Amino acid sequence: MQERSIAIDGPAGAGKSTLARALARELGYLYVDTGAIYRTVALRAREAGADPGDGAQVEPLLAGLDIRMDYGGDGVQHMYLSGRDVTGAIRENEISGMASKVAALPAVRAFLLEFQRKQARDHDVVMDGRDIGTVVLPQAGVKVFLTAAPEARARRRTLELQQRGQAADFDEILREIAARDEQDRNRPVAPLRQAEDAVLLDTTDLDLKGSLEALLTLVRGRLKL
Ligand code: DC
Repeated sequence: MQERSIAIDGPAGAGKSTLARALARELGYLYVDTGAIYRTVALRAREAGADPGDGAQVEPLLAGLDIRMDYGGDGVQHMYLSGRDVTGAIRENEISGMASKVAALPAVRAFLLEFQRKQARDHDVVMDGRDIGTVVLPQAGVKVFLTAAPEARARRRTLELQQRGQAADFDEILREIAARDEQDRNRPVAPLRQAEDAVLLDTTDLDLKGSLEALLTLVRGRLKL
């Protein structure tokens, strides 16, 4: 039911996924990472040799697109593309920029809308993304717009990639994050923006524990949990 849902939107690297996952665990909700779905479409485009920003090349792929999502015993959201587990592959840095490009295509967004809404009909969800409070779950019981200074977001993202054993240069990541924010904020369809009824939470000076406490207080107050 949408009214019990929690929508968390914000720019890349604001801590959405870490916080949304922790919040869901705390409340016994299902965490749905919608960025992973766009990333899977981007991977499909790359594998087909399609330019992710070109609707004429990406749209024909949608009809045959076989994307599935499930939660293994580990509680982690696994993404499957044509039956293949691509949970790790979609985290490649190159896929981040490509995901932002396919996400700007209206046909891709329309195609994924029902897929996302179904999750909120079937479960109590904490869903994170860019347009959850504005478009996907406009009736969500709590909407949070999570942000942080670009430098703080780039620092976290650099660390995250390095911890995964991937090469990551802070200055390059900062540039990529700025370009992605610009693209996500300025697209004509479902741009990244704070919903009017969303609460703004800036995590620049908060650590994970402090951010989670702030979120829990907010959510419990709103949903009377
Ligand atoms: O959250 P993320 O970094 O995994 O998302 C990857 C890209 O997908 C992001 O740059 C924009 C897009 N996206 C979107 O447009 N709408 C969403 N609800 C989630 C992600």
